[in-house]
Amino acid sequence: MKTATGTSFAKIILIGEHAVVYGQPAIALPVPTIQLTATVTPRADHAQRVRSSYYTGALAAAALPFAGITQLVAQMLTHFDATTQGFDLTITSALPPERGMGSSAATATAVIRALYAAFDAPLTRAALLEWAGVSERAIHGNPSGLDAATTSATVPQWFVKGHAPEPIAFPTRGTLVIADTGVRGQTKAAVAQVAAALQADPARVTPLITGIGAAVKRAAHALATSDLVALGASLNASQQALATLGVSSPALERLITAARQAGALGAKLTGSGQGGCMIALAADGAHADRLIAALTDAGATSVWRHDFDESEGHA
Ligand code: MEV
Repeated sequence: MKTATGTSFAKIILIGEHAVVYGQPAIALPVPTIQLTATVTPRADHAQRVRSSYYTGALAAAALPFAGITQLVAQMLTHFDATTQGFDLTITSALPPERGMGSSAATATAVIRALYAAFDAPLTRAALLEWAGVSERAIHGNPSGLDAATTSATVPQWFVKGHAPEPIAFPTRGTLVIADTGVRGQTKAAVAQVAAALQADPARVTPLITGIGAAVKRAAHALATSDLVALGASLNASQQALATLGVSSPALERLITAARQAGALGAKLTGSGQGGCMIALAADGAHADRLIAALTDAGATSVWRHDFDESEGHA
């Protein structure tokens, strides 16, 4: 093993969360301005230690959700025939944890990249996503794979569970404002809640899930034709379905209402909900500044801005 570093990005689900677990498409984008880095440094002894803002200590002693990374690293060390190798794993992240920005998948992505580089092994995208599934399953129970597909990408992704993610072009116009409620989201609980609702009342819940899928397809068409008004309408339609599924929250609704009152073309939660972040679509940069002010006034604890022309895959 040699010292090596892996990086990954925050992710934003533009549209399709939750329904994606049931085979509907989703569109998500990496946010390259919000980065995570994992550095692995070999030690002379056999200790395996982690240093991060989320957890610091012996890798084996971490509790969930970080224990997902413990399981991932243990399986990777077996793969590399290096189970007794000592190391320090240092994670530096600008992502807020448990806010729907993909912090667990971004951690897994960067750790996988760092370990492959540390063992001088080539890493395919398919293998990376396979490995990320180990920690994501431990943390979330039934992940679609969307988060890892996006935190490991450099351009926006069209994603269908069980299929290789595909790049999707974004227009050059349009800006997303991302705002944090400051409340932790609980991906596992939110995913389990939708599963329980589907099981209890499939006749009511199935149309909500297929309705989100239909909104995702309208959003893809709106992106392809640079129709920001239609894109905003599809975001609003998906928020309505997500709220009916029970994964919104009063803090999210407060920010979504504030954004719409400030003229957002569309606004919705992003990620698993029940806390975490929301997104609002602005027509242009000046409008985004007004949305940022409105969301800050409404109590957002952090606000970020992502111009579509930063998305590289733009049309
Ligand atoms: C979480 O970021 C996204 C969900 O759709 C779960 C998943 O796709 O695994 C809620």
